[in-house]
Amino acid sequence: MTEKSKDPRSFDLKQYSFPTEQIPRLSINDPEADRRISKALPVVLTDTNLVTSALHWDLDYLSKNIGDGEFVVHISKNKNFQYCDDKKSVNVKDFRMPTEKQDMKFSEFVEKLHSAKPGEDRLYLQQILHDTVGKRVISDFLGFNWHWVTRQQKTNNFGEMTSNLLLIGMEGNVTPGHYDEQENFFSQVRGYKRFVLFPPSQFACMYPYPIYHPCDRQSQVDFDNPDFTQFPKFKEACGMEAVVGPGDVLYIPMYWWHHVQSLPSHGYTISVTFWYKAGQAEKIEYPLKPQQKVAMMRNIEKMIHQALNNPSEMPEFMSSMTLGRYT
Ligand code: SIN
Ligand code: FE
Repeated sequence: MTEKSKDPRSFDLKQYSFPTEQIPRLSINDPEADRRISKALPVVLTDTNLVTSALHWDLDYLSKNIGDGEFVVHISKNKNFQYCDDKKSVNVKDFRMPTEKQDMKFSEFVEKLHSAKPGEDRLYLQQILHDTVGKRVISDFLGFNWHWVTRQQKTNNFGEMTSNLLLIGMEGNVTPGHYDEQENFFSQVRGYKRFVLFPPSQFACMYPYPIYHPCDRQSQVDFDNPDFTQFPKFKEACGMEAVVGPGDVLYIPMYWWHHVQSLPSHGYTISVTFWYKAGQAEKIEYPLKPQQKVAMMRNIEKMIHQALNNPSEMPEFMSSMTLGRYT
């Protein structure tokens, strides 16, 4: 066996156009792991046992045990599954959602997944876990390492947990670059995912869509094939990356940009997110942290949008406020 094939994470990964450094992989017993979380820096934790009770999940087991409720499945004509807020569609003339959303039974999802052919529609199940699932899945869920994750929540002053999202995606699926307004202990259950992260300090390199746009929080830059003419500052972007596999937990701090790709393994990947609201603001210290500035920019942008009450007036307003004065 070659050195390369020994490590399950040594996939033949394409080189991005931007430099990246590896996100450290650490044990929870390493004090550096706690330090990184407390400083809102990403880290891959290898031994949290957060989802050990779910490591036997596969399509067969879930088909038998997840219950006959409805599941949200996103359908895309290409590899990208960009999240868009349908409610904001009215703000952009002729906006078309890039993916379609369908509710279906788990068995229907599995059937479609098995019969999918290259070049045809791709599927990505993204369903909040709740108590409509079958007994065994509930028991697996109760077996998550709630002790560890709740201790992290308390120590790091996170707010309440909002949800666990179950993600089942076809290999090759991509969740394009975006940030979330929540802390996330992203847990890999089956297969491998490649993550690229950028810190909130690189906001200006990421060219997020305006706040009123359905693609709010998403980068306009295609990280896989950046258009440097349109987005020249993306040339200055410097990322961090990691491949996560079964049992790994990636801490994605709030406001950190992330781009996720399902790597080829069993044909599909399974993951579960643990999302937490931001904690109560601690004492304000100056200079403000980049994530606090992003939050502030969002609030100001929201206020202007509400005051103008017409998204088409935003571009001129925003540029006359700064052009030749702050630029
Ligand atoms: C993914 O795993 O595809 C997306 C997860 C996230 O954006 O939090
Ligand atoms: Fe996300």
